[in-house]
Amino acid sequence: MTGSFIKVFAPATVSNLTCGFDILGFPLENIGDELSIKVIRGKRIRIKSIKGFELPFEPAKNVAGVVARKMIDELRLDFSFEFVIKKGIKPGSGIGSSAASAAGVAYGINELLGKPLKLKELVKFAMEGERLASGTPHADNVAPALLGNLILIRSYNPLDIIQLPSPADLFCTLIHPHIQVKTKESREILEKRIPLDKAVQQWGNVAGLIAGIVQSDYSLISRSMEDVIIEPIRSVLIPRFDEVKKESLDAGALGCGISGSGPSVFAFSKGEENALKVRKAMIETYHDTKIKFDVYISRISPHGAYVLERSY
Ligand code: HSE
Repeated sequence: MTGSFIKVFAPATVSNLTCGFDILGFPLENIGDELSIKVIRGKRIRIKSIKGFELPFEPAKNVAGVVARKMIDELRLDFSFEFVIKKGIKPGSGIGSSAASAAGVAYGINELLGKPLKLKELVKFAMEGERLASGTPHADNVAPALLGNLILIRSYNPLDIIQLPSPADLFCTLIHPHIQVKTKESREILEKRIPLDKAVQQWGNVAGLIAGIVQSDYSLISRSMEDVIIEPIRSVLIPRFDEVKKESLDAGALGCGISGSGPSVFAFSKGEENALKVRKAMIETYHDTKIKFDVYISRISPHGAYVLERSY
């Protein structure tokens, strides 16, 4: 095994999709992290280099190191791994930066070992990276980053992960303002108890959104994209959130909300033409702020992590 090498890509992901806090997510096309993993002797994990953004090199403080440690221990491996991490996703962006690294490591190690585990079985390892990054081992970014497609986490205990079909014309437009919102902090400000009337509204919307997605009913998707629990609290952390949302909806979006824990904001549209109109509206809302930003358009990617290169 020593010396075996693999390079994998793991995608950025949008989670929550407005009403589905911690239970819904999907991968974006073409944005993600690259992880090079080499099998090394001994038990010590090594992070050789991190490109793109600054992150801790100490394995116990880096999601890659934590996921690798969990796999080494649980699978009783008598060797270790060295990582070169190329971050394509800024930490604290709301598009699953920690999740991409965590999923990429779980996926890459499983490939190096000759795939002893199924993709769904890798989710619990990748979730350890989220525990480190956000304080909670949520799966709504790591599961789509591993499996691809729109993912529903039906249950955490036991873990029950459902892959959903995506409507052919569903496009996501996403604006990523370059400010950092730490998931840990944006989880801490949330209310721990929900009034029953709000819960009824929210689970009606979640059920409607899933039904709309499964039936390709764009009007139902649109009516269901409402978050009465999380968004009112978190949106204050995102400059111009209300304007971005209003302008996106006025431009024809089916719905708009916070991507993950923010600061990215995403909108769904029917068809690429509408997604482009929403892109223009998002840019116009943000262009006179001092905040730099990127805007992406993507379908719901059917691809989770995949191999870029390998050698034995
Ligand atoms: N579901 C998580 C949250 C996603 O909203 O905190 C974090 O990216």
